[in-house]
Amino acid sequence: MNPDLVIRNARVLTCDPSRFGLGMVDRGAIAIRAGVIEWVGPDADRPGATRVVDAGGRLVTPGLVDCHTHAIFAGDRANEFAMRAAGKTYLEIAAAGGGIGATLGPTRAATDETLVALLLARLDLALAAGTTTMEIKSGYDLTVAGELRLLRCIAAAGRRPAPRIVPTLLAHLVPPERKADRSAYIIELRDQLIPQVATDKLAASVDIYCDEGAFTLAETRSILGAAKIAGLPVRGHVGQFTDLGAAELLADLAALSADHLEQITDRGIEQLASAGVVAVMLPGACVQLRLPVPPVEKLRAAGVLMAIASDLNPGSSYCEQLPLQMWLATTHYGMTVEEAWLGVTRHAAKALGLPTGGTLQADVQADLIVWACDDPATVPYRYGAASSLIESVYVGGVRCGMAVS
Ligand code: NIG
Ligand code: FE
Repeated sequence: MNPDLVIRNARVLTCDPSRFGLGMVDRGAIAIRAGVIEWVGPDADRPGATRVVDAGGRLVTPGLVDCHTHAIFAGDRANEFAMRAAGKTYLEIAAAGGGIGATLGPTRAATDETLVALLLARLDLALAAGTTTMEIKSGYDLTVAGELRLLRCIAAAGRRPAPRIVPTLLAHLVPPERKADRSAYIIELRDQLIPQVATDKLAASVDIYCDEGAFTLAETRSILGAAKIAGLPVRGHVGQFTDLGAAELLADLAALSADHLEQITDRGIEQLASAGVVAVMLPGACVQLRLPVPPVEKLRAAGVLMAIASDLNPGSSYCEQLPLQMWLATTHYGMTVEEAWLGVTRHAAKALGLPTGGTLQADVQADLIVWACDDPATVPYRYGAASSLIESVYVGGVRCGMAVS
């Protein structure tokens, strides 16, 4: 039986690890059946199909995977952006009552309908810039009932076919009203929230913000330990401001990813490499907070796989567009174009525990982008122009109607 769809006459950037580099098939074609890729190869060898799309020699890539976002929140913090532009730091603003704490009030006060509508609008923008899979963290309520509510709202938004959603429970901070009984709050996370999230299958992993002003290393060990006992994989925000040794802990726990990493020791890098933990680069937040660049050369030399994500959040990076992050990763972090592509495809999927995600190869879901250009470098090079560079996006072999053009 013929495939449902063949996309032909394409420069297919497969990101297939069994091919060289980015796995480019220059005059290539892709055959899709029932939402899944059946075959990728030379155009001349393509099978017949019910429907054929001629890509006109243009670039076809995997759909982009945004592996680190805080996309569910209400309100904004444009005032903090202006304060930072005038010279205040993120930590100074947080200590004065801004920061994550300032998003708790509006998020707690918003109805489920409002939160879902705000999230869907952000998902539309992300999809229009090529994101077909998005990780979304909770973390802007911080009560047990409120974090469960955020994860249920994420699940409600995830009922739409595109982008695909991967939910994460984030232990973001001890909320201001629990500062006096910090250890009781942590016990609640361990004994109530995490087991409930695991039972209700509301998150695919547990994340924690281990840094100055957030959770300590000992608290991180305790919370992530509870996640492992509940059968949930772990990840962490580590070394954004201060290295508390969490990279080493994440390596010990065989975490999916270690994110930020502006501050990390050589020992931390070695341990991430040997444990196969993906390093998630968040250049938008790094640039906006004027932080030092993570040690990309050392990560590369140690063989640590690097992903790139938007960190979409109302404080440090209010941005839905991965191609912009690819631009920052190449121009500001010194990553190559090849690393930037793998960072938003195959390596990002690995950070989400999706082993064959972010690739175009047989037996993988047909999430792909037909670009309006033919050179992979054009995508970061023409920064800010993502939606006009995208010809069409397919999720599960179905062409998405662009909500935003
Ligand atoms: O990844 N660093 C912690 N969390 C976010 C910022 C969240 C916020 O400021 O609202 C981050 O940068
Ligand atoms: Fe983050």
